[in-house]
Formats: sequence, structure tokens, C-alpha cells
Amino acid sequence: MPALVLLGAQWGDEGKGKATDLLGGSVDYVVRYQGGNNAGHTVVVGDQKYALHLLPSGILSPGCTPVIGNGVVVDPSVLLSELSGLNERGVDTSKLLLSGNAHIITPYNVTVDKVTERFLGKRKIGTTGRGIGPTYADKINRVGIRVQDLYDESILTQKVEAALDVKNQVLTKLYNRRAIAVDQVVEELLGYADKLAPFVADTVLVINKALENDQVVLFEGGQGTLLDIDHGTYPFVTSSNPTAGGACTGAGVGPTKISRVIGILKAYTTRVGAGPFPTELFDADGEALRRIGGERGVTTGRDRRCGWFDAVIARYATRVNGLTDFFLTKLDVLTGWEEIPVCVAYEIDGKRVEELPYSQSDFHHAKPIYETLPGWSEDITKAKSFSDLPKNARDYVKALEEMSGAPISAIGVGPGRDETIQINSFL
Ligand code: GDP
Ligand code: IMO
Ligand code: MG
Repeated sequence: MPALVLLGAQWGDEGKGKATDLLGGSVDYVVRYQGGNNAGHTVVVGDQKYALHLLPSGILSPGCTPVIGNGVVVDPSVLLSELSGLNERGVDTSKLLLSGNAHIITPYNVTVDKVTERFLGKRKIGTTGRGIGPTYADKINRVGIRVQDLYDESILTQKVEAALDVKNQVLTKLYNRRAIAVDQVVEELLGYADKLAPFVADTVLVINKALENDQVVLFEGGQGTLLDIDHGTYPFVTSSNPTAGGACTGAGVGPTKISRVIGILKAYTTRVGAGPFPTELFDADGEALRRIGGERGVTTGRDRRCGWFDAVIARYATRVNGLTDFFLTKLDVLTGWEEIPVCVAYEIDGKRVEELPYSQSDFHHAKPIYETLPGWSEDITKAKSFSDLPKNARDYVKALEEMSGAPISAIGVGPGRDETIQINSFL
């Protein structure tokens, strides 16, 4: 019963979509377990490029059943438009399963996300504005709306009333906005019910039965380890658990079922939105990484902040996720640098620190201590095996592996499915 978790080891956008799609042909189920349409996962198949937000990247593999688990927050309008966009491009989406326990991102959650960010001003998180935080807040406050509520008008109305009771006070009195009408929200949500009905299922049962029957299930994380609400750079995080434990709660499987945890790791570092980032570059190298790596957000179109590889973060990701493997992506982007600095430790208030500090203030003060590795100039995009890489590229990979604490089992040398060097099999 192989169950694999595939997650981001840094601040998101590591290439999870490509990695998931690559495995999609060999797995029976791909399950999203947290986050929502704040994610932007790019998959390149031949000359076709897909940007997925809510749908698991397994949707593009015909033999694979894509599942949206209970831990995901779902904006029904986004889900339906993503499905119809794929249908128009000839992708069959009929196998999709949607947990009846997943929470719904309502229009008022989106409004609250945007107004709170505006209200925070300089202290804003830089959210994607998709209603993610407020929807998870409603879930924890027990005033959330779940997919199953769309099928009982009376319960739905009571729940929307309960949620809007306080929110309308806040919106009108604090934020100077118009109150949101309960009837309008209920009507909009009911309008999605029939369209979503064919997909709604007891996904926990389906996934566990699949594992009992020795089928292969892949859990696909959104965001990344450092954006985790518990283990990330709080408060500059998302409102869910992308780390490995999130796969258990967000899909309803026991930890004993998980056999492999693969961390997707970019060969350098990027971040979108606010928050600390020790290796961030503000110079021509940062600009070059952004340009060569195409580092622009898939969801919001914002430029990604770019910096050198940070081994302290990679070690931390290995620890909090119990990583068994890394998938190192975008190695090709580093081609052409004569030397490549890698952050091996931090200097914090005059002291050398080897591990990620738990204190937010310490992390804000962390300055990278770099070791410089020799670069390479050969084109590596056609490399099919590790030995095809030039020596300096091989040494770079080996150095990262040693510093990061888990084997690098695959290397991305381009965005396409086949632009991958597989070192150890994931299955
Ligand atoms: P995700 O959110 O983790 O799925 O990552 P994104 O899709 O937001 O960003 C990763 C970007 O890098 C996408 O444009 C991918 O097509 C691209 N990509 C993934 N792996 C590689 C790689 O090995 N090399 C290059 N050059 N691009 C890659
Ligand atoms: P994928 O899955 C990168 C960031 C936002 C913001 C913070 C909180 O493509 O890797 P939110 O809207 O979640 O409340 O925003 O988290 N963020 C991401 N950054 N990749 C993502 O997803 C992200 N999803 C959220 O930029 O800083
Ligand atoms: Mg992304």
C-alpha cells in the first residue's frame, strides 16, 4: 500500500506540479490535502502548458483519479471554471472526487481577506487575496460552510446567517463596507450544488479502501514547509499545514500508511509575499534568477523574490517532514554562473547558527553564511542521467544532498515531464 507525500520544502513554487504530474502516470490517486486556489501549479506536457490552482496535478494523467481532500478549501466558482477550462482543452475531468467535508470559500471570505490586508497596510502578509485565511478561520471557529451544506438549504441558510452575523458588524462598523446579504450568498452557493454533485464523495473511505487494495496514492501539497501555519515563518505563512502531517489530517489517513515523503526543492530559493528571507538577493544575480527561472507567480502574477540556495531551510524541511527523498528542481537555471554561493549556516547577532532558529526575531536577524561552489556553463537540459551532468553540476547536487539530510532522488533540468533525471525510483 504505497502512499507517498509530495510537498514543497521551501516557500512554495518549487515545481510540485511538474513532479506530481511526472508520477501521475504511475499512481492510482493524486490527493490535494490542504490549501486552495492560492496554489499555482504549472504542468508542461509536450507543447501544452497548464496552470492548476485547485485541481490536483494528477488530473492530466488519464489513469489517475484526482481527489480534493477534506483539508482543502474550495472556491466553487474557481473549481468549475478550472474544470471547464480543462474540458475545453480536451482533458477528461469526470473522475474527480471532492470531499463533502471540504470547506467552501464563500464570497464574504474573499472580501474579508482583501479588506484585512488593506487594513494591515505596511504589516500586510501579502496574501493571494483568495479568501484562504478567513475560510480556515471560519473552519476553526466552527462557523464554516462545507461542501455537504450545499445539499440542505435550511442548514446552509442557518450557517451563512451565523457566519455573517459577526462579519457584517465588522465589515460595516470597522471597515466601512456594505453589509453582505445572507439571501444573496445562499442563492449563489445553491447555484453550484447541482454542478458539483457528480464529484462529491466520502473521499476518506475511497482513499483508505484504495490503500487496502494496494493501490498507489500520492498526496500533493500546496505551498511549502516555510509557509506552514505551525512550522513556517509565522505570521508570514498560509493558514494550513502543507507539511507532511497535514496529509494525514487533510485526507483522513493514518501516519502509519505513509511510506515515502518527497520534498520538492528548488536549486535556489524564491518567495512570494512578505516575510523574512535570509538569502534574498537585491542585485543583478537576483534579477537574473528571476528572469532565467521565469519566477513570476502563477496565481497572482507577482514577481517572486529570489535568492541563493539555503541549506538551513532544507535541513529544517527534512526534519519537520521526515523527508525520505528530495526532488531537486530547476538545476538548469543555474547554468552560466561562474560560482554559486550556497547558504550553509546563519550569523545571528554575531553567533554562527546551524539550524533554523525557532524565534521569529532571531530569524529576522539571520544573515547567510555562504560557501561558494564552482559553476558550469554546459547546457544540461538534455541530460538524461546523473553522469550526463558536467562535474561541477554533479558536485553542486552532491553538496546540496550532504547539507540537506536526505537523498536527492530526482533532478529537474527543464519544465517538461521528460526533462528529469531520475536517480532513485519513488515507487
Ligand atoms: P509549484 O507551485 O510548486 O507547482 O511550482 P510553480 O508551477 O508555481 O513554479 C515552478 C515553475 O518552474 C513552473 O513554471 C514550472 O514549469 C517550472 N519548472 C519546474 N521544474 C523545472 C525545472 O527543473 N527546470 C525549469 N527550468 N523549470 C522548471
Ligand atoms: P504553490 O502551491 C508561493 C503565500 C502568499 C502569502 C502567504 C499567505 O503554488 O507553491 P494566502 O493567500 O495563502 O493566505 O497567502 O502565502 N502563498 C504562496 N506562495 N506559492 C504558493 O502556492 C502560495 N500560496 C500562498 O504569497 O505570502
Ligand atoms: Mg506555484
